[in-house]
Amino acid sequence: MQHSPILIIGKNAKTGRRVDHGLNALGYATRAVSRSTSTPFDWEEQSTWRAALEGTESAYVTFYPDLAIPTAEQTIRDFVALAEEIGLVHLVLLSGRGEAGARRAEAVLKSSRLDWNIVRSSWFMQNFNEGFMIEGILNGELILPAGAIVEPFIDIDDIADVAIAALTRPELRNRLFEVSGPHAMTFAQSAAEISRAVGYDVKYTQIPIDDFIQGLEDQGAPEGMLWLMRELFTVVFDGRNSNPTTGVEDALGRPATEFSEYISKVMATGAWDRGGMLSQA
Ligand SMILES: NC(=O)c1ccc[n+]([C@@H]2O[C@H](COP(=O)([O-])OP(=O)(O)OC[C@H]3O[C@@H](n4cnc5c(N)ncnc54)[C@H](OP(=O)(O)O)[C@@H]3O)[C@@H](O)[C@H]2O)c1
Repeated sequence: MQHSPILIIGKNAKTGRRVDHGLNALGYATRAVSRSTSTPFDWEEQSTWRAALEGTESAYVTFYPDLAIPTAEQTIRDFVALAEEIGLVHLVLLSGRGEAGARRAEAVLKSSRLDWNIVRSSWFMQNFNEGFMIEGILNGELILPAGAIVEPFIDIDDIADVAIAALTRPELRNRLFEVSGPHAMTFAQSAAEISRAVGYDVKYTQIPIDDFIQGLEDQGAPEGMLWLMRELFTVVFDGRNSNPTTGVEDALGRPATEFSEYISKVMATGAWDRGGMLSQA
């Protein structure tokens, strides 16, 4: 077992938190950082990067907000260059399926001197309970600019397991794992499954992309987020990612988690509980 801590960029990030806890449970020391940690790490402040990297040999890296953004390639290029200079040996990068920007960032890592893994992921199931869709679920209406296109949402506990395997099993190095859930479904089908489980109506409403973006703008979302949401719901969400992939099974030798299992886990946390409504259902 290695002695230097495993660096985790994204201590509070959905997957970073899970990778951190999972490694600690296995007895690995970690250094998990984000903007709010005692050793801070900010993707927008390069001066914070060196202290986070120094003394580490391997890292799990989540970029924020998304590798799809136009500046991500150069940021990853600068980060990888510093990692090489400091002596990092192995970097596991969380990436996104179907994103041209993510492909460019992946290429930077693959052509570096570092050992690498890429975990290229479909959309997270946890967006429904830890991300931007929880408000819609609790309000009983999910309003999105998506129709008949299906997505094989992934349970990010699976992403964490794949990342941990990549970090701790040298025989998996220098491989790309394209990970997704086992079945593709529409947002409307996802809302219907969640509705059945929670016992209150979760209606799905499709709206035009321009109306969706206008709504975000009215709520004060920054310009970059508006660009990203348009990119994700038009260019990336055009059906290119509809087929499930085998990355979870390839890395772990077990199938990816079903949406129904994910729902059961969230139900146990009470995250979709609307103030006692569930207990009356
Ligand atoms: N969501 C999906 O469906 C999906 C699918 C595929 C891939 N991905 C990839 O997952 C990553 C983001 O996922 P997410 O949107 O679900 O968010 P997330 O991983 O949950 O990350 C949110 C965290 O990022 C940290 N953060 C925010 N700004 C930062 C900055 N400038 N520098 C460093 N850390 C910062 C924040 O912690 P602090 O406030 O403590 O800094 C926050 O807790 C992206 O790389 C995206 O490409 C997401």
